[in-house]
Amino acid sequence: MQKVKIGVIGVGGIGCLHCRNIKTLEDIELTCVCDVNEQAVEKVGEEFHVKYFSDYKKLIKSGLCDAVLVATPHWFHPEICVFAFENGLHVLCEKPMAVTVSGADRMIEAAKKSKKVFSLMYQQRISPAVQKAIGVVKSGILGQIQRTLFIDTVFYRTQAYYDSATWRATWKGEGGGVLMNQAPHGIDIFLSLAGLPRKVEAKTRTKLHEIEVEDEVSAFLEYENGAWGYYYTGTCEAGGGLRAELLGDKGKLVLIGEELKLYTFTPSISQYTFKSKELWSGPEVKEEKVEILSPKENIFGHAGVVKNFARAILYKEPLMVSGEEGVKSIEFINALIMSGRKCVPVGMPVNRKEYDNFMEALKKDSKHKRISA
Ligand SMILES: NC(=O)c1ccc[n+]([C@@H]2O[C@H](COP(=O)([O-])OP(=O)(O)OC[C@H]3O[C@@H](n4cnc5c(N)ncnc54)[C@H](O)[C@@H]3O)[C@@H](O)[C@H]2O)c1
Repeated sequence: MQKVKIGVIGVGGIGCLHCRNIKTLEDIELTCVCDVNEQAVEKVGEEFHVKYFSDYKKLIKSGLCDAVLVATPHWFHPEICVFAFENGLHVLCEKPMAVTVSGADRMIEAAKKSKKVFSLMYQQRISPAVQKAIGVVKSGILGQIQRTLFIDTVFYRTQAYYDSATWRATWKGEGGGVLMNQAPHGIDIFLSLAGLPRKVEAKTRTKLHEIEVEDEVSAFLEYENGAWGYYYTGTCEAGGGLRAELLGDKGKLVLIGEELKLYTFTPSISQYTFKSKELWSGPEVKEEKVEILSPKENIFGHAGVVKNFARAILYKEPLMVSGEEGVKSIEFINALIMSGRKCVPVGMPVNRKEYDNFMEALKKDSKHKRISA
């Protein structure tokens, strides 16, 4: 069987997990690894019996791989991915694809020029519940969307977590807090369901932790069709979870964790409101729990995204998470961060130049963290 040869760049926490996952898959083979930490990469190279590098350019030019999986801290993603595309490699990049929309644009441009496969590690999007929810929205059963809600408190974090690497939770190292690191998965799900709003008005703050960047975000959203929405995330809550609501004219979809409920209205709200002679009643509401089937042969999570990436290269299997879709998340994240810091509403598409200048100013006063031994 044909296999994609892949190199993993950045073999810290998640990069190592990817190396282990790749070993379990049929369509792909780990052939090399890279990390600027020479001791770490030597250890990983020896563990997986593959060639190792401390310079990503050398790995990309080595001829040892057809594709790379980029798992370095986010600021490096555009530079490494663009270089990989320019050298004819397919790319699977960790989330968030970039810190700024201008960085994401550069990646898309390079991917298009190279005609190589570009996918992103948004493994939560491929979960059966989320795929089902996306299918329900696409079916049109909800009618025109009137209101959205997304509350993502999945990722509680301790101070020890933030103190575990110099780059974490700094403008310099990450370009944002919860929005850049923990929330991108939820944001990817939210935008896959509801699309991008045209404007956000956010409040962001550092509520609990000793960090430079935001650990709590609350935002009011406005959509192109005039619908309103609400978005919340943070790393301060224990016992958290994920809740999404999409209210349409004809129905409402509620996703709580892995559970999906559909409420359908007969007749639609717009019809009932003006045709009914009733004073106190509403349309008939049918509530149903949506059955979520997960085909046994499918692999989900990180390994599922890697498998789909490999099969897209080998057999042109449709990508479950394409690079192009990732730009929407960065658009949303940048708008929330800038709106929260400047205390003004921010429209999308975000002004690239304005955001780059705004981020450069934040980075100027930013300090890498001293980390606990
Ligand atoms: N999809 C997910 O579920 C998931 C989970 C965790 C992290 N991530 C993402 O993965 C990325 C890495 O996160 P992490 O927690 O593994 O970080 P980490 O600090 O544990 O690992 C990052 C590694 O990259 C190396 N590195 C830094 N700059 C490099 C460069 N220029 N070239 C080569 N190597 C370089 C570091 O030495 C380190 O070993 C981040 O973008 C993060 O958001 C995704």
